[in-house]
Amino acid sequence: MRSLLDRLPPAASALLLQGAAFASALLLVRLAPIHTSPLPFALLCGTFAAVFSRLAGLAKWWLLIQFLFAPALVLMLALELPPNFFLAAFLVLLAVYWSTFRTQVPLYLSSRKVWQAVETLLPAAVPGQAFSFIDLGSGLGGVLTHLARARPDGRFQGVETAPLPFLLSWLRTRLGGLRSNCQVQWGSLWNCDLAQYDVVFAYLSPVPMDKLWDKAKSEMRPGALFISNTFMVREQPPLYTYTLDDLHHSTLYIWRMNEPGKY
Ligand SMILES: C[S@@+](CC[C@H](N)C(=O)[O-])C[C@H]1O[C@@H](n2cnc3c(N)ncnc32)[C@H](O)[C@@H]1O
Repeated sequence: MRSLLDRLPPAASALLLQGAAFASALLLVRLAPIHTSPLPFALLCGTFAAVFSRLAGLAKWWLLIQFLFAPALVLMLALELPPNFFLAAFLVLLAVYWSTFRTQVPLYLSSRKVWQAVETLLPAAVPGQAFSFIDLGSGLGGVLTHLARARPDGRFQGVETAPLPFLLSWLRTRLGGLRSNCQVQWGSLWNCDLAQYDVVFAYLSPVPMDKLWDKAKSEMRPGALFISNTFMVREQPPLYTYTLDDLHHSTLYIWRMNEPGKY
């Protein structure tokens, strides 16, 4: 069972474990002479779900989510909200988070201090020569639009897979008059050719970092910069790290690619 769960995305494992918890709670109230109303029954389901999730090795934050899921469901149903409310909430969350259950890279945003620090890492201006930058998973476009305004001599590209963040960032570049040096594309970062860029920036999660490092190594040009906000790669220590005094004490990890001895 554990090896099956290991192969599934955590959200799918969590759902299966909720099913097992519901079946166990049902069995318990059938076998024991307990008459239970919906909320205590949901708390029982939540307790089973949290215990099963712990045994299955889900990450710590899942235990709280698993415990609260069924009670929250019962409380929400008690509010008797119209079904369309749930449909609308589901569609908004889908448009924002899209494939997060599979990629394990949700939307959260780099701070303004990160934008400013990345600005200082961009190549020096050379008259008549543009440099190129890509934000892999560009979210709401904050990094891109800041840099495109600060460095009109650069070409800034974003790629974003979730529809609503893509649409908002696209509008942000259009309405902000940045069309000439800043573009956002709807798609997957795995389909981008990193050989085209002098600077590649990513703020993702620990999950894709090893695969992304392999892609960066095989595609990026010698001397190009790879910058990861917060998440390290296991294979190669960075050339520099840059810790900022923003809310999360973000750290930028910086590699100079494909120059022997200079990662
Ligand atoms: C942590 S946010 C970072 C947003 C932005 N780069 C920033 O620094 O503020 C990560 C973004 O990557 C997007 N994402 C995740 N997997 C992706 C993929 N395979 N291709 C493109 N975007 C992806 C998510 O939808 C999310 O908006």
